[in-house]
Amino acid sequence: MLRILAGMVLGLGLLGAGGMAYMHSGMYNVAASDDHLPLVETVLHSTMHASVSTRAEDIEVPDLDDPEMIRQGARAYEELCTACHLKPGLDGTVLRAGLNPTPPRLTEPSHRSPAEQFWIIKHGIRMTGMPAWGETHEDAELWEMVAFLRRLPELSEQDYAASIAPEAPQGAADDGHDHEHGKMSAMAGEGDSRDDPASAAGQAQADDGHDHGDPVTMKDDSAAHGDSEAVHQDRAADGQDADGNDPAQATARPGDGHHDDGHDHAH
Ligand code: HEC
Repeated sequence: MLRILAGMVLGLGLLGAGGMAYMHSGMYNVAASDDHLPLVETVLHSTMHASVSTRAEDIEVPDLDDPEMIRQGARAYEELCTACHLKPGLDGTVLRAGLNPTPPRLTEPSHRSPAEQFWIIKHGIRMTGMPAWGETHEDAELWEMVAFLRRLPELSEQDYAASIAPEAPQGAADDGHDHEHGKMSAMAGEGDSRDDPASAAGQAQADDGHDHGDPVTMKDDSAAHGDSEAVHQDRAADGQDADGNDPAQATARPGDGHHDDGHDHAH
């Protein structure tokens, strides 16, 4: 009996020592460019699934059919999620190409419940690149994203474009209802750096040199740029300029023309 116990202790000790040796040996490859071993992949994936569904169990789901919620969610998705999760008409980005695991296409129907999607969006998934948006966004805003995700798989490219288009005729009625989601490009700071005239000017200068394209969509097309400009004007029309927003940027932007200066790298 004692011998069996001693054997077990010794065995466990050896296992532990072996594990430590392996850990420190550098044999395990952490490169994102390599796939996990199938067993590791299965273990990680099942662990993640179980973890998410357990934690999502007690979450109460609000009404996700409110058109205003869906509209707000669409805008947040366009700004924050497309670089990894794509959108109708966008089949790849340079950010997505380098990630392992590859972010799922959220344009395809999900087997996840709304509560699970909410939990993932709020808390993120460690070591995958999926950020915890709850660090920067209110629950209500996260539900808007979920509400939009439920619709996204049904949307054609045109539907999608319409869902993120600023509603010009309703511009006046659209009074300050828009949430500020921050831009991927401003993520280095608090997401508000573009409201600071000094840094806006600095950014514009930096843009003049090398343009790597819009960090959100990773596309170099001016249509995307035109889009955010439109959002900008929409905001200006909302009278948000009153709080000192970007007079510098307003002048820096139209003049920068950096897309035409032949400095663009073709990615
Ligand atoms: C930097 C890349 C990146 C960004 C940006 C990003 N995600 Fe993710 N997301 C991921 C990755 C990677 C996964 C997959 C994780 C896994 O499979 O373990 C994921 C998974 C998810 C899932 C679970 C999908 C499923 O059905 O399994 C949801 C929902 C999700 N993301 C929503 C969002 C939303 C909403 C945004 C924007 C607010 C967003 N993500 C932004 C990388 C990203």
